[in-house]
Amino acid sequence: MKLWSRAAMLAAMMMLAACRVSDQDNAAQPANETAAIAPILATPDANDIHSFARPLEARVHHVALDLTVDFDAKRIGGTAILDIDRKPDAKEIVLDDKGLEIESVTDGSGKALAFKVGAKDENLGSPLAIALAPDTRRIAIRYKSAPGAEALQWLTPEQTAGKKHPYLFSQGQAILNRTWIPTQDSPGIRQSWEATIRVPAGLTAVMSAPRSAEPITQGGESVFKFRMDNSVPPYLIAMAVGDLEFEPLGPRSGVWTEPAMLKAAAAELADTERMIDAAEKLYGPYRWGRYDMVVLPPSFPFGGMENPTLTFLTPTFIAGDKSLTSLIAHELAHSWSGNLATNATWADFWLNEGMTTYATTRIVEAVYGPKVAAQQVALGHDAMNAAIVDNGGPSGPDTRLHLDLKGRSPDDGLTDIAYEKGAAFLRTIEVAVGRERFDAWLKGWFSRHMFEPVTTSIFLADIRDNLIKGDSGLETKLALDQWVSQPGIPANLAPADPQAFAEVDGAVTAFKNGAQPSPEVWKRWTTDEKLRFLTRLDKKQPTARLASLDRAYGLANAGNNEVRFAFLTLAVAARYDPAIPALEQFLLMQGRRKFVRPLITALATDATWGRPIATRVYARARPLYHPVTIRDLDKLGLGGAVTGQVLTAK
Ligand code: BES
Ligand code: ZN
Repeated sequence: MKLWSRAAMLAAMMMLAACRVSDQDNAAQPANETAAIAPILATPDANDIHSFARPLEARVHHVALDLTVDFDAKRIGGTAILDIDRKPDAKEIVLDDKGLEIESVTDGSGKALAFKVGAKDENLGSPLAIALAPDTRRIAIRYKSAPGAEALQWLTPEQTAGKKHPYLFSQGQAILNRTWIPTQDSPGIRQSWEATIRVPAGLTAVMSAPRSAEPITQGGESVFKFRMDNSVPPYLIAMAVGDLEFEPLGPRSGVWTEPAMLKAAAAELADTERMIDAAEKLYGPYRWGRYDMVVLPPSFPFGGMENPTLTFLTPTFIAGDKSLTSLIAHELAHSWSGNLATNATWADFWLNEGMTTYATTRIVEAVYGPKVAAQQVALGHDAMNAAIVDNGGPSGPDTRLHLDLKGRSPDDGLTDIAYEKGAAFLRTIEVAVGRERFDAWLKGWFSRHMFEPVTTSIFLADIRDNLIKGDSGLETKLALDQWVSQPGIPANLAPADPQAFAEVDGAVTAFKNGAQPSPEVWKRWTTDEKLRFLTRLDKKQPTARLASLDRAYGLANAGNNEVRFAFLTLAVAARYDPAIPALEQFLLMQGRRKFVRPLITALATDATWGRPIATRVYARARPLYHPVTIRDLDKLGLGGAVTGQVLTAK
């Protein structure tokens, strides 16, 4: 059951989809005053326990921001004007707020509205309840973000590639945007939005939406305007500000980054247009106009973030040989799985990430060939099996796709269960029904659910209605309910190709018997092959063997960050002292959570050898890391958690 008419929404969405932007520099789509209001799901499983909003009573459907970025105060401040839809008898609207400093709340005509910030929950922040008069349809909030807002990372000039200008970027997923935008921060409450962003003259602001006007610079300030006419979950509102330049990659794609990085970034991203073409063949039309990317400074805590029209990327994927660009296929695939059909709550996170991980391999197959894809499936299965072990074994509750996150942070669901068990599930269905039938279903899924929140039960119902269609043999064979609700990996898993890494697996066995691949063999291997080798070795190697590998292939300082990380992981497990300088350097040059968290955690839990190293490195690294990375690592008790100065690097 839905509160708003699906027919009205679809009609307006089709109008939006028809207007495609072809301009090279991210120019405006025409403002669409009739933009549809996306539905709110009313079933109990769509209730978002990570938001204070009660959208069935009153919900935001459009956000208009007018904000000034103040690098000195490390604050963003200004107004947010919210257009709301509400039941006639609703007495208040509840927003999500984490640390915002609210100056005033008024209605559309400037009349003050009473508001109250409720008690603060460590994960969720506070409810911001605003009293509604019977005719209130618009709310204006004057506010500032707090200096420690978790969505924002403020970088000093020294922390940038160019060293001259400061830098700011935001990271909204999962529930961080409530630290800088006062709205209903729930993935099931889709909102269109627009923004006017004022930055110090000379800096460039980019956002996850097309520009709606040319930038203007006057009076020491540059003003940028953006408008997203499609409704999006609010975690996808994102911004970066810095000394940014743009380089086109193709007719509908390009890259923003600091000037010093631009050539290397553009070269690494040369396959982007081919990936967009492959993704459209798989998933249906790309509905966001342009696909641009911004390559951020190395403290960006993730590999990538699928902000619409503007994927955010770590610079650590730049290897010089395009060998880590499945990351782009992944973030691009979210333009459908995640951004068109969005997990209604974080318990359904696997619908975003599992489907995207499945599609990543399909895009990789189209662009780089079936062998590379089969190898990535095999690496995915290894990661899935490791995630089962890490999450309590085959009966661990967190090995279920549909999660129970009651009383927990949505980040607890950020494991390879969502990504790799989710992908393995979809691949199992593909293999069972055949690619042709599965692909027809997949395209249909997005045309049936575009610009809508989706739940696991919607997924199951859709697959039964449109793929299984009453075939009871197929129903039994697929074991859908077991896949989504039970822990562990069902027996019908479509296996990875056991021959995908035949040569490498042979070398792993030989290594156990004392042999080591020659430097020529190592050089010939692809990045995925090197990763299979390093991750399949026994965890605790004698240090002499690590020394021999490092000497032969230069692993502790490998230019490929995934390879380097895989070796450093072995080095920490084996207490391999000669790698420590390289390890320290790696932990200080980038803050990608996937790399720094396991390494620092492994060091910290080795009380005699590792912990002193962890303490020493973390004291220096912590000021360089993003708040989300720090929040995890502070739990290790290595010190540094008390200062309010976490964002100032010295
Ligand atoms: N959407 C995620 C990143 C994310 C998830 C941020 C949950 C915050 C909360 C993004 O698409 C992603 O999955 N990134 C991966 C890269 C990928 C190739 C697996 C990452 O950052 O490692
Ligand atoms: Zn993802």
